[in-house]
Amino acid sequence: MSVLIKNGRLVNASEDFVADLFVENETISAIGKNLDYTADKIIDASGKLVFPGGIDPHVHLDMPFMGTFSSDDYETGTRAALFGGTTTVIDFILQTQGDTLRNALTTWQEKSKGKAIGDYSYHMAVTDFNDDVAKEVVEMIEEEGITSFKTFMAYKGALMIDDGQMVQLMKVVEKHGGLVTVHATNGDMIDSLIAKHRAEGKLSPLYHYLSQPEVTEAEASARFIDMLEYTGCTGYIVHMTCEGALNAVRRATLRNQHLFVETCPQYLLVDASVYDNGFESAKWVMSPPIREKKDQEALWSGLNQGLVNVIGTDHCPFNWDQKLMGKDDFSKIPNGHPAIEHRMELIFSEGVHKGKISLNKFVEVTATNPAKIFGMHPRKGSISVGADADIVVFNPNTKHTLSVKSHHMNVDYSSYEGWEVTGKTETVLRRGKIAIEDGECHLKPGSGKFIARGKTTKIL
Ligand code: URP
Ligand code: ZN
Ligand code: ZN
Repeated sequence: MSVLIKNGRLVNASEDFVADLFVENETISAIGKNLDYTADKIIDASGKLVFPGGIDPHVHLDMPFMGTFSSDDYETGTRAALFGGTTTVIDFILQTQGDTLRNALTTWQEKSKGKAIGDYSYHMAVTDFNDDVAKEVVEMIEEEGITSFKTFMAYKGALMIDDGQMVQLMKVVEKHGGLVTVHATNGDMIDSLIAKHRAEGKLSPLYHYLSQPEVTEAEASARFIDMLEYTGCTGYIVHMTCEGALNAVRRATLRNQHLFVETCPQYLLVDASVYDNGFESAKWVMSPPIREKKDQEALWSGLNQGLVNVIGTDHCPFNWDQKLMGKDDFSKIPNGHPAIEHRMELIFSEGVHKGKISLNKFVEVTATNPAKIFGMHPRKGSISVGADADIVVFNPNTKHTLSVKSHHMNVDYSSYEGWEVTGKTETVLRRGKIAIEDGECHLKPGSGKFIARGKTTKIL
């Protein structure tokens, strides 16, 4: 199969020019003006943007969590991602406390087998660290191509590790060239605020928000960064939401630390007024919660200052009947929201179209940096000869409205219902094959590949 994409505006993290692109089999084989090649398929991309397929490094597919499972599995989740222009996702394997990493890996391999349509990789969440697990960490890096290890400083009793375990894990990961990622919020402070609110009969979703004030994230982020400095490990803070945490990153830059930061569209676009809507606010019950307008401004600035390196989604969808598990008690509402399909279009529309970030920055934070940080570059994350032909042809002028009626995620509401965006993913190639065209997905479940990852590019 060969594809010739003609006259598109090719955008990489540091390039922007009009050219043709020739794809043979799974990879990009030529880029140039007026390429005179015979191809099985020709796409006229005049007036369109052509950029690397998005990489979403923070998704939860078919994940057991808070007494239920996230509602998108590998098939529905990666298909929805492709519709939105994301060709690769990194999901989180969760170690069961008291069990091995190997068993957790096997469980997740079963979840993805025969189902994934987009390409995928795994982070390994270490929820119970000891000497045996330390050996498995090395095995994951050396033998399985799983080079990033997720930690939780919250969700005590299920996922949280203590600071002693964190430091030991960092030492092993550092020695073997991996990366420690973190959900950085102070679990004990949050648990005591949850208990206080419940004891006072304050049970609506608003109290989810009020149980996780900014300080809980700022403190944990700073603590994590200090432990990174102590161990020399490279770190990555997931779903950063607020100015306080970002200021801890600013301080880390004075110490020349190897630290990367991710935020998500919801923290850039939505403010805490979403919690003023009774139980409807359960749509925005996620951790950390949505913050204030001043935090949105800090995060947009952080992107432009190079302090925030990645925009992921933290896609963790639950149907409404699942959210209703917490109808009488906010602490039982499964945390998370659906977003895997909308990241690229939302950030293009609200970021590039509205002038908050450049087109190059858009590609950098949605594709190139995730590829570099998570050891997939140059195979993924840029349009270059020899790279996987994961390509988005995007119409920057098409206006459309996001809705549960038209999205492809397996969830019965849209957090972004009625949201008007400018810019639409039109055609998507995944490793050289037409994945999305004319509003249809043309790839079969099981055609997505596991991507074994290498070590982090420490300098972006
Ligand atoms: O609310 C969230 N974020 N749910 C998914 C799990 C996590 O903390 O990332
Ligand atoms: Zn988290
Ligand atoms: Zn998450």
